Amino acid sequence: MTRPNVYITRLIPSQGIELLQQTCEVEINPHDRALTRQELLEQIKGREGVIGLLTDKIDGEFFDTATAIKGYANYAVGFDNIDVPEATRRGIPVSNTPDVLTHATADMAWALLFAIARRIPATHKIMRSGAWPGWGPLQFIGADVTGKTLGIAGAGRIGTAMALKSNGFQMPVLYTDAVDNPTLEKELGARRVELTQLLQESDFISVHVPLLPQTRHMFNLETFGQMKSTAYLINTSRGPVIRESDLVLALRDKMIAGAAIDVYEFEPEMAAGLAELDNVVTTPHTASATTDSRQGMGVLAAQNLLAMLAGNEGPSCLNPEVFQ
Ligand code: DGY
Repeated sequence: MTRPNVYITRLIPSQGIELLQQTCEVEINPHDRALTRQELLEQIKGREGVIGLLTDKIDGEFFDTATAIKGYANYAVGFDNIDVPEATRRGIPVSNTPDVLTHATADMAWALLFAIARRIPATHKIMRSGAWPGWGPLQFIGADVTGKTLGIAGAGRIGTAMALKSNGFQMPVLYTDAVDNPTLEKELGARRVELTQLLQESDFISVHVPLLPQTRHMFNLETFGQMKSTAYLINTSRGPVIRESDLVLALRDKMIAGAAIDVYEFEPEMAAGLAELDNVVTTPHTASATTDSRQGMGVLAAQNLLAMLAGNEGPSCLNPEVFQ
């Protein structure tokens, strides 16, 4: 029996690759960078399966080129890079990597929340520089976290995990979502509210919505204007959920106290002026960057691809209707 011909668009942690290598011929992008569009289109020709990144656009042109493809597995839980209806129209299954990165991402949202609230990067910097003159009552005063109101924008898997971790900090929790979240309501007494109320009442807002036409730029000058001037915004979801140029203005004009963001509207660029502000913490899209989580993503992507190559749905297929 011939072994399926699989391509991985960038080196991923070993376990997923090893799983695929047991039954497939696996080729991996040899460069330590994402492929250009042209390179991607060249490489997918004749491949039966592809594992790709959130930066790879999986659209009609991709499927026109990958004429032998039986399945595409995204190495990410977010799948705004995939035209799922187009894949479905062509009968091609596609998948993502939920669950395996939920806690890593929720943990990172907390890390960012504390980093901005307690001004960790700025204090780290002064210690490294040797410029700290010694203890002072007015130095680096930050914001309290315990007892403050946490607003969760999008209470899916990661938003729920982030909220549940607030338990030790005795925070009233508000959340927005299309549906009620009984877990949050039972465990934390959390309340589902409209976005306006979340904006007006939260001291910390952590964003966990997927990127959809209706969530693109949901944080903009108007919504920043509805937040408390003492509030902080945390984003570990997708960059374009925030209109980043508006965030710069809001932070510059102190419309809000600060922001801590892991994702950017035009990655890897940041909006002009963002890097000069001292009321923002920025990390390079590393919320899922833990060993277990990144290995888990690779294994899950491989499991999905193997299932799709065998004509089966797999653990996290995004368009299971193609199998009906
Ligand atoms: C995802 O999986 O969508 C993250 O953004 C990267 O791990």
